[in-house]
Amino acid sequence: MRPLSIRARVLYLAIVFALLLVGSVTLATYFFVADGMAHSAQSTTWRLARTTSLAISKATTTAKLQAASEGLVGEDREHEALRLLMREIPDLFTVGGVEDGSFALYVREVTDNELRLVWFSDDRAVLDEASGRNDALLDRQPTQTGPEGRDLLTGMFSRADLGSYVVHIPLYLPNGAVGVMDVVYLPTREEGILDSARQPMFIVGAFALLVAVLMLQIIMGWVLSLVDDVRTAAESVDAGQLDVRLPEEGEHEIADLARSLNALIDRLRRRAEAQTRFVADASHELATPVAGIRGYVNILRAWGAEDPEMREEAIAAIDRESRRMARLCSDLLSMIRSDGVLDFRNARYDINAASREVLAGAATRYIDKNLEFVGPDEGPLWLYGDHDRIEEALAILVDNACKYTPDAGRVQLKTRRHRDRVVVEVTDTGIGIPESDLPSIFERFYRSDASRSKETGGFGLGLPIAKHIIDASGGMIWVRSKVASGTTFTISLPRNRAKEPKE
Ligand SMILES: Nc1ncnc2c1ncn2[C@@H]1O[C@H](COP(=O)(O)OP(=O)(O)OP(=O)(O)O)[C@@H](O)[C@H]1O
Ligand SMILES: [Mg+2]
Repeated sequence: MRPLSIRARVLYLAIVFALLLVGSVTLATYFFVADGMAHSAQSTTWRLARTTSLAISKATTTAKLQAASEGLVGEDREHEALRLLMREIPDLFTVGGVEDGSFALYVREVTDNELRLVWFSDDRAVLDEASGRNDALLDRQPTQTGPEGRDLLTGMFSRADLGSYVVHIPLYLPNGAVGVMDVVYLPTREEGILDSARQPMFIVGAFALLVAVLMLQIIMGWVLSLVDDVRTAAESVDAGQLDVRLPEEGEHEIADLARSLNALIDRLRRRAEAQTRFVADASHELATPVAGIRGYVNILRAWGAEDPEMREEAIAAIDRESRRMARLCSDLLSMIRSDGVLDFRNARYDINAASREVLAGAATRYIDKNLEFVGPDEGPLWLYGDHDRIEEALAILVDNACKYTPDAGRVQLKTRRHRDRVVVEVTDTGIGIPESDLPSIFERFYRSDASRSKETGGFGLGLPIAKHIIDASGGMIWVRSKVASGTTFTISLPRNRAKEPKE
């Protein structure tokens, strides 16, 4: 894989993207779980504080009642009640009493001003910081001092540490003494849950990362394989191979591209085939008169000196064949000219006058055939276009009409206006065109079998040239014909050529 290939770039991007995505999801998940655990620890601490409060007030009542039952009164009774309570407290918070937390009791006697530690359940309960206790006494309500501002995410990469939660409960004891009970909760259970969740979370995260990168690579591989097909096709076209087809299945963008490229390749192939055919046909047509000329040159060499009759015949034949070649060359030139984007003039001309000129020209050429020529005898019918080119097309049609009509037949040229177009019809009473030939007569070098056998001497280039001129003039041409009865070619031309000529 090349380091700057699309596949490599997508791989880098995929890794960065997946790392960011999976990392942020893992981080967020851990944060919310840790936050939940911290809340749970806090509510556990407050629950412990409530239970502690209740237990102490119950024990205080019991101690007072017991002191009273011993017959003590006044200060003695209060004193005894405090003593009994102090004796009771350790049992209350250790054996079968309030559990889960650590407890420390501080008492301030009436005579004293200091809160003194009188009992603690374990070392964790003893906190040096006294401000929380003083606040609780001042506010006369339980106060929490907890793990403020602790960074919950630190536990993500090391052991979880949610800190310790403390609630200070103010106590009003017998004999006017006041005290504070510190309830300390160490959230080891919650930290344990976080610790056990960390490893699976990382494993799932890494797996998600791997899957994301793999998926992107698979998708990329699929897209690139489609692109690869396009590249192979382009290379084949470049190497001149035009029979390749790209896979077009699917409704995605690459399939659209493949369809466009296939259409392009088809167009190129058709053009290349047409060119090959044209060159082959043209050289074949040129080869025939050349072979004829060479044959007659050989005859001239062999017998030309002795046999004057033979010499004359050979010269006449060479003359005929060379004329044929000259005509073919001029037709080919005309064909190439009509293929190119030659500028079409756009001048006003009279189609009736042009038609009459064309007919007159044909009449002199086909004088021997004794044909009847009928042209438009109305006044001018004006239209815009290239006068010479349209006359060339008409001449081709009239020439065909004369050529393929037996002696004493009729060749007629009619014009009429139809909306914003001019319609010209060239009709003859000739041999007609077989129906099977009709679709092909506008192809280059196509000649129907009937006309080949008639030795009319054409090349099959007239109609393609005429059609090209008409198409490029924004017009249309079509044919109706009946064998042995006659043919009509119809041309429809726009009266005003607004559009540019087609190529
Ligand atoms: N008026 C027509 N009557 C009968 N057949 C026709 C007529 N016009 C054209 N064709 C047929 O169509 C074929 C193609 O005509 P096209 O003008 O292209 O070639 P061509 O006349 O044979 O040779 P070229 O015009 O190159 O000298 C002709 O060979 C002929 O078979
Ligand atoms: Mg012709």
